[in-house]
Amino acid sequence: MMKRTCLLTLTLNEGQKYSKIHMERPIAIFDSGMGGLTVVKEIHSLMPGKNIIYLGDTARVPYGTKSSDVIKGYAKQITKFLSTFNPWVVVVACHTVSSLALNFLKRNFPQLYFIDVVTPSVDESISITKNYRIGVIGTPATISSGKYQKLIKNANPGIKVFSQPCPLFVPLVEEGWIKGDVPEIIAKKYLSGLINKKIDTIILGCTHYPILKKVIQNVLGRDINLIDASEVTGLKVKTFFEKKNMLKYEVEKSPVLYFTDVTKDHKKIINFFWKNHKLTVRRITLENHV
Ligand code: DGL
Repeated sequence: MMKRTCLLTLTLNEGQKYSKIHMERPIAIFDSGMGGLTVVKEIHSLMPGKNIIYLGDTARVPYGTKSSDVIKGYAKQITKFLSTFNPWVVVVACHTVSSLALNFLKRNFPQLYFIDVVTPSVDESISITKNYRIGVIGTPATISSGKYQKLIKNANPGIKVFSQPCPLFVPLVEEGWIKGDVPEIIAKKYLSGLINKKIDTIILGCTHYPILKKVIQNVLGRDINLIDASEVTGLKVKTFFEKKNMLKYEVEKSPVLYFTDVTKDHKKIINFFWKNHKLTVRRITLENHV
């Protein structure tokens, strides 16, 4: 029989303070940094009564330029931390981890149920493309893993896939540089090659990228469909609870956000998502979760 609640002791602020969290089984969500908040926001708006706990590994972002072994090690440490909350589901809100480490996580944590961001994005892209030409943008690790290309081709070998790594998008978002000339110039540099490929659909294959959606759409033009993983993944999580008949009315709860580092720029991004909202934001260290 699964435990319904979980009491947890956390080390906060370099181990000076201790705090106990008491919470009903949550939805656990993680990413390398702030990008996964796009998924948190969506899941919270679809199911405001569910407990949500988020871990953003802001101290070690970016993951997308690191090796697969390092990414797996980080993902394992985070999942170990999140598993102490006894979550209903763990949402891997990071395309890099979903592309390189999902099977590894499933093998290491057979007791947990995982939902990734790659599969729903692929399914959505295949269902909406009309000319069978799909673009994928993501971190260097995601693009070079070939995961998107493989899944799309397996589903429909007739689809042409064009991919482009956009490594500078992640630091732009982490530093809160999400409007104006600089992101636009960088976006033009990365995306102009894709415009010539006549794609009609593009997967934003990194959870940081929807934060730059306006800039990306301006550069690509209105006619290209942008696939935002947070929307399709949110629906998948909702279906998970629907199937369990667990979507009854519940009082709204605020997400609890954990980060491995919190700076002024991070606070700016949190404010971008939840203006005038009271949220629990905590800093933790993950060293004990190996
Ligand atoms: N947001 C992450 C993703 O979806 C990774 C960004 C990074 O850490 O490089 O791929």
